[in-house]
Amino acid sequence: MRIVVLTGAGISAESGIPTFRGKDGLWNKFRPQDLATPSAFERDPVTVWKWYDWRRQIIAKAEPNEGHRIIARMEQEFDDFYLITQNVDGLHQRAGSKKVIELHGNIWTLRCTSCSHQKTDYRAPLPEIPPSCERCGALMRPGVVWFGESLPEDALNLSMDLSRSADIFVVVGTSATVYPAAQLPILARSSGAKLVEVNPQETDLTSYADLSVRKKASDGLREVLEFIYTN
Ligand code: OAD
Repeated sequence: MRIVVLTGAGISAESGIPTFRGKDGLWNKFRPQDLATPSAFERDPVTVWKWYDWRRQIIAKAEPNEGHRIIARMEQEFDDFYLITQNVDGLHQRAGSKKVIELHGNIWTLRCTSCSHQKTDYRAPLPEIPPSCERCGALMRPGVVWFGESLPEDALNLSMDLSRSADIFVVVGTSATVYPAAQLPILARSSGAKLVEVNPQETDLTSYADLSVRKKASDGLREVLEFIYTN
């Protein structure tokens, strides 16, 4: 039985990392077009980097929560298990998940805007803003996907294949508003998977879900395990 889990910012909310939408969401305080687009970075790399450096510092101080840990244990327990995340915080890996498909990149990756150099850098705050490439001296950018950019092709293709072939597809903590990630649960459902949602709020996916658990990730995932065992 193939189990596929898709997570969004809500899985990290219990670790104290702000989500994007909703009352306390980042996009309620900041404008994405000023901070998370290629043109914002071209215009003002310092402002963009300061914002990412601030987020890196929040994430560096955070710890994975029970939701991340339950998902990490699922990977151990089930033979045919895959985790797809829209998150860039790396908390799944810190909780012990080994195979993580990152659709929106990773905030700890720095990528050169000129040569092909990229590296992982866990320093928070960064010593130099904006950081420059140690190979060619050009500007480095955060290794995340911005609005208007394509998702990493391999990660997206694999995610689509897994969604089509899933028996149970579990969506945790995403508003399911950002495409193409938001399409994956629908693809899974229309390909025959049972769709399970964990979210304290209703989303556009709720009406498609075979089981909708209106709880926080940690509590909700315990219920999802029961569902998996009985299906
Ligand atoms: P959102 O902020 O859009 O949605 C977070 C979801 O988590 C909401 O539906 C909340 O109800 C839910 N939530 C809040 N607390 C929760 C908890 N404790 N347990 C479970 N769920 C909880 O975040 P995403 O859907 O991840 O992309 O956003 C998708 C993308 O939009 C992000 O990857 C980012 C953003 O702009 C880019 O930057 C490209």
